[in-house]
Amino acid sequence: MDNNFDVIVIGSGPGGYVCAIRSAQLGLKTACVESEKTLGGTCLNVGCIPSKSLLHSSEMYSKAQSEFKNLGIEINNIKLNLSKMMDSKKKSVLTLTKGIEFLFKKNKITHLKGKGLVSDKSTVTVVDDSGKKTKYKAKNIVIGTGSVPTSPKGINVDEKIIVSSTGALSFDKIPKKLVVIGGGYIGLELSSVWRRLGSDVTVVEFLDHIIPGMDKDISSEFLKILKKQGIGFKLDSKVTAVTVDKNKAIVDFINSKSNSRERIECDKVLVAVGRKPNIGEEISKLGIKVDTQKKIQVNEKYETSIKNIYAIGDVINKGPMLAHKAEDEGIAVAEIIAGQAGHVNYDVIPAVIYTSPEVATVGKTEEQLKKEKIKYKVGKFPFLANSRAKVNSETEGFVKIIADEKTDKVLGVSMISSVAGTMIAELALAMEFGASAEDIARTCHAHPTHSEAVKEAAMAIDKRPIHF
Ligand code: NAI
Repeated sequence: MDNNFDVIVIGSGPGGYVCAIRSAQLGLKTACVESEKTLGGTCLNVGCIPSKSLLHSSEMYSKAQSEFKNLGIEINNIKLNLSKMMDSKKKSVLTLTKGIEFLFKKNKITHLKGKGLVSDKSTVTVVDDSGKKTKYKAKNIVIGTGSVPTSPKGINVDEKIIVSSTGALSFDKIPKKLVVIGGGYIGLELSSVWRRLGSDVTVVEFLDHIIPGMDKDISSEFLKILKKQGIGFKLDSKVTAVTVDKNKAIVDFINSKSNSRERIECDKVLVAVGRKPNIGEEISKLGIKVDTQKKIQVNEKYETSIKNIYAIGDVINKGPMLAHKAEDEGIAVAEIIAGQAGHVNYDVIPAVIYTSPEVATVGKTEEQLKKEKIKYKVGKFPFLANSRAKVNSETEGFVKIIADEKTDKVLGVSMISSVAGTMIAELALAMEFGASAEDIARTCHAHPTHSEAVKEAAMAIDKRPIHF
């Protein structure tokens, strides 16, 4: 095999594999290095995809138990077969990871199997499972090695009793009592899965609210909804220790307001307090600059401090740690390497929590705008007044649009709805086109759809919603 490439991408997650495909499309001779057995990175193997499979299956199970009878669908003896549910998850993951293999072959991308290390600005060393090292030359190297879970000091994840998201996606039986440390994306999605399947779940969150960074209205409404679903919350609570005794764990935490100490005994503990960039020692040895959080510093062209070495996705100091952000950066960097003008608009990156209902946001929150001293108007519309949501018994949540007080330009949107993750795309597109709230209000939305709530929220900015 010829060991010379135009581009070598290290990592085959959503950032890396998309970058490899776009590079190949642009005529660049491309290789992608992956150390795991299957392509797709965290997202496909132990993240977005398996969690969405379990979220979907557990939602169906929960609806079959509590909602179907209201629709006149009576099923006796609904039983959970967890191993079959896990098989369905594995099948989805396998199909999608095989799909990337197919796309690599179709685009003539060389799949290098092993751990990729940057040896110098034009050499990547691949160490395979047997320890054999092979050197490959590249005109351009793209680091897309993603992120790994973090854990509070002194808490050791064993993936048996104290687990990260990886372990919590593969429990072989329903934990009777599950404590989740962290009320962010991972904590809340996986709390939902195991609550629906029968666990008694308590989320211990350091702050006085869940999903930090999201709009406060959304965060407090979402908390109410999750409590109603039976998830317990201990806010303002910092976990100080987790001890394992035989097959149980004891979680100690302290309330930062009252200073009182509490303790919960449980079967499993999920640690979901964030993720950190996955970078090897060779990065700093080579002199590639990182910031205080150990994220690789890149410029607007995704170049690191070493020419011809680029970085994208969770490892860099730009934007949120989200798969779709990494994908867009993968496309942008491939285009930049090919001499085109690749670009990502960090002001318009949607974020979705795939619970039921879903939470979705794009752009700025009220809190951010206040900080930036930007004057704004707000339009809100509840799903309680949306006909389709009513018919489907999905009346929880609302759409909230924030527009500039003077220009009416949409600055941010947050929503809670059964289909928020799909609906947010309309708002991202509107923001990319610099739409005003009035543009959305004057756009015909099909009836009856949940999306009509978007139009009504835009009309509510001028205090003229029709159905509320
Ligand atoms: P996160 O940053 O979303 O939330 C972590 C939470 O843990 C925060 O609320 C924080 O205040 C809390 N916390 C930190 N230390 C604590 C302590 N000692 N005791 C109690 N609470 C503590 O992190 P998470 O949920 O682990 O997700 C990691 C990354 O993965 C995020 O950046 C997210 O963007 C991404 N992700 C995205 C998903 C999606 O798009 N749907 C799904 C899952 C993950």
